[in-house]
Amino acid sequence: MSQQVSAQASRAVEAPGLEARDVRKRFGRVEALRGLTLRVRTGEIYGLVGPNGSGKTTLIRCLAGLIRPDAGAIAVLGTDPRTAVGAGRVGYMTQAAALYGELSVEENLRFFAALAGVDDVARRIEATLRTVELLDRRRSVLATLSGGLRQRLSLAAALLHDPALLLLDEPTVGVDPALRRDFWAHFRSLASRGVTILVSSHVMDEAARCDRLGLISEGRVLAEGSAGDLVARTGTSDLESAFLALSEGPS
Ligand SMILES: Nc1ncnc2c1ncn2[C@@H]1O[C@H](COP(=O)(O)OP(=O)(O)OP(=O)(O)O)[C@@H](O)[C@H]1O
Ligand SMILES: [Mg+2]
Repeated sequence: MSQQVSAQASRAVEAPGLEARDVRKRFGRVEALRGLTLRVRTGEIYGLVGPNGSGKTTLIRCLAGLIRPDAGAIAVLGTDPRTAVGAGRVGYMTQAAALYGELSVEENLRFFAALAGVDDVARRIEATLRTVELLDRRRSVLATLSGGLRQRLSLAAALLHDPALLLLDEPTVGVDPALRRDFWAHFRSLASRGVTILVSSHVMDEAARCDRLGLISEGRVLAEGSAGDLVARTGTSDLESAFLALSEGPS
């Protein structure tokens, strides 16, 4: 038994944080993912960048076990997505907030904590609210909060159960620059503790903070590398120009 546990533990250490291989997903006539392959190391922050409709959210939903790919293979923390999610190891911040408008900030988090089976709920809620700077609004009804404050609560809900993998779908939309910087300091500190982070973004300064970036186009990874690599490879002066060059034609 203990041998089995340690074998599992060592497999978990060796396995990448997540891996998608040749993943395909079709919705009726739309082929949202067309053979998408990527690998994210444990403790790495990987950014998904790509135009609207390129398949970023569809990939993230596959990784969160919400939809099944038509073809290809996905491993999350060394196992299949539903097992990892069921074990409370995955935090998912959806692109559209999945919160309850009539509940207070704290009641929303209590609800998510119950779903995720969080121990020591009061302490975790307080710590997470402090992280996203919402502690003083804990009793406010969600519907009365501004968009940016709701975004902070969505992030808090994803962090509450201390997941080993964070899937963040455009997490800082509507968040002001100072708090965005704080969010990123927090992401970096989580990654340094071994949390794997996959984040989609349209914001270039945020993309540049990722360890590696994947440019997604029409359901595939068109180019991959650090921000510096991509700029150097295209002979451009900034990341936005690099993405435009990569999107427009063969490099
Ligand atoms: N449930 C669905 N039913 C039908 N089509 C869908 C569904 N989900 C996604 N699609 C389609 O799949 C394609 C990829 O959508 P997806 O939401 O993954 O893109 P995205 O890269 O996240 O875009 P954005 O940057 O706008 O968030 C789009 O053409 C979209 O219309
Ligand atoms: Mg999306």
